[in-house]
Amino acid sequence: MRSNVAFPVALTALLCCGPHIVLGACNFAKTTISTSPGFNIVVSDNYKVLNDTTANIAYGLYCDSQPGNINGVTRWFKVPVDSVGTRIPVASGFLEALGQRSKLVAADFPANLTNICIDKSKVKTLGDSDTSVNVVFSNSASSDESKSVRLPSDDSLTPLQRAEWIKFVAAFFNLEEQASTLFDSISAAYTCHADNMRYLKRAPHAYWVEYMDSPTTYQIITSAYQKNLLASAGATNASTDGLADNTNVAAFQAAVKDADFVFDQTQLKKFGQRITEWYSDFGYKDPQNQGVSFLSQRNIWRTDKYTSKSGVSNYPEFAYVRPDLVLQDLISVLEPTYDRTHAQRWFFRLGGTTEDTTVISASNYDCAKPWMSVVDKCTARKDFSGGDVEEDPSSATSPGSNNGNKEDNSTDGGSSSSRAGKIAGGVIGGIAIIVLAIVATHYYNRHRRRARARALSETAFGSESIGLRNTRH
Ligand SMILES: *[C@@H]1O[C@H](CO)[C@@H](O)[C@H](O)[C@H]1NC(C)=O
Ligand SMILES: *[C@@H]1O[C@H](CO)[C@@H](O)[C@H](O)[C@H]1NC(C)=O
Ligand SMILES: *[C@@H]1O[C@H](CO)[C@@H](O)[C@H](O)[C@H]1NC(C)=O
Ligand SMILES: *[C@@H]1O[C@H](CO)[C@@H](O)[C@H](O)[C@H]1NC(C)=O
Repeated sequence: MRSNVAFPVALTALLCCGPHIVLGACNFAKTTISTSPGFNIVVSDNYKVLNDTTANIAYGLYCDSQPGNINGVTRWFKVPVDSVGTRIPVASGFLEALGQRSKLVAADFPANLTNICIDKSKVKTLGDSDTSVNVVFSNSASSDESKSVRLPSDDSLTPLQRAEWIKFVAAFFNLEEQASTLFDSISAAYTCHADNMRYLKRAPHAYWVEYMDSPTTYQIITSAYQKNLLASAGATNASTDGLADNTNVAAFQAAVKDADFVFDQTQLKKFGQRITEWYSDFGYKDPQNQGVSFLSQRNIWRTDKYTSKSGVSNYPEFAYVRPDLVLQDLISVLEPTYDRTHAQRWFFRLGGTTEDTTVISASNYDCAKPWMSVVDKCTARKDFSGGDVEEDPSSATSPGSNNGNKEDNSTDGGSSSSRAGKIAGGVIGGIAIIVLAIVATHYYNRHRRRARARALSETAFGSESIGLRNTRH
């Protein structure tokens, strides 16, 4: 009787493992990946070479035994790796999107990880040149000697270029194909939403800014990352260059005075009073009465809505991995009628009455079904001309929008009303057939918007006076 059992077992062993033995190779997927600026991955039978062509360092990845000298490869890793250390938040986001969160076992400052699906008590603090982990992702290829692998950390890459590094990280887990599929859908969604913004009748003016002390500078950020995001969301500006002299506050105020929206990445410290701090930093003494749209409408926005319990922003950890979601956040700020159902993740209105940040929790992040690895499809459209639904019933029919749910009442008030007058007239002309249902939707929207405008004028723009506490002398 024994032989009856042994035979199938032997056969199974042969079937499952035979090919590996016969080829004597790693069975690496033969994908050749090349990004520029960025990296390339070249796969051979028993190793692959990841070449970071920006930092000019090549890493060798092998499955079984380390190959002999391969030209240009100075650092070897056995893959798939199963213990990862990180000194850069985005590594955690890439692992999350790849379903590899459990491989993160060390970080330079574990308490600052915002991914709630990681048990931080099990993540140890990375020592110097820690050898207990297989690889350390960091912003430098030399942080941990032979364990370090660089991931880009600056804004000189566009959002998609930055996100494409998911393929590079995936190579350490032999998950390049999964990463490519995910990245392709992220890229497709990003491009589709950006394309949909090309038909705006009046593009909003927006700037990305940052204040720094010692030495004091007022910056209009024009790095590829911020510039590409703003442009993809349909924003324009009147200043074609950054500031010639970024130490001059008057020059800064003059350059942004046409702004409908300002996005801020200043390191603000006074939680709960950050708008006051912001006005003070940028030298606005009487912000509401400058005749400047973004000030009177309080359209000053930041990206740190999602935070951990201790207030650490989730943006650097998750957002760089999902530029499609970042772009949708940004579009929903600039063009709230594009998709009323979109709930902003990272963007929030600093200029509102409350600092409406959100602690990441099970209610907005399901570890069993993480949205980090789910990409919603975007529908191409040419009919979205932006701005004011009042004049344009067609925009009430944005895809996936079904009026009335999940609207973030605290975040979208000012923008449509501020731009209402400027778009008046002529919009209805292009619409040949207005279905009764759309008309009904239109009136419903109008009713709601008026109610909201009324509510806003009573609260957001009402009694509370934003006093300037001049903390800087
Ligand atoms: C990595 O890329 C650089 C720049 O393209 C090239 O000069 C170098 O030979 C490459 N190294 C390897 C090991 O392929
Ligand atoms: C204004 O927009 C143009 C075109 O997108 C861009 O090249 C430029 O850097 C922007 N300037 C500022 C100050 O954001
Ligand atoms: C941890 O996060 C806090 C708050 O964002 C920040 O001030 C601090 O520098 C971070 N620490 C490290 C080591 O990254
Ligand atoms: C938004 O609306 C909800 C429900 O209508 C309400 O509970 C909440 O207080 C409102 N938030 C603000 C900031 O007005």
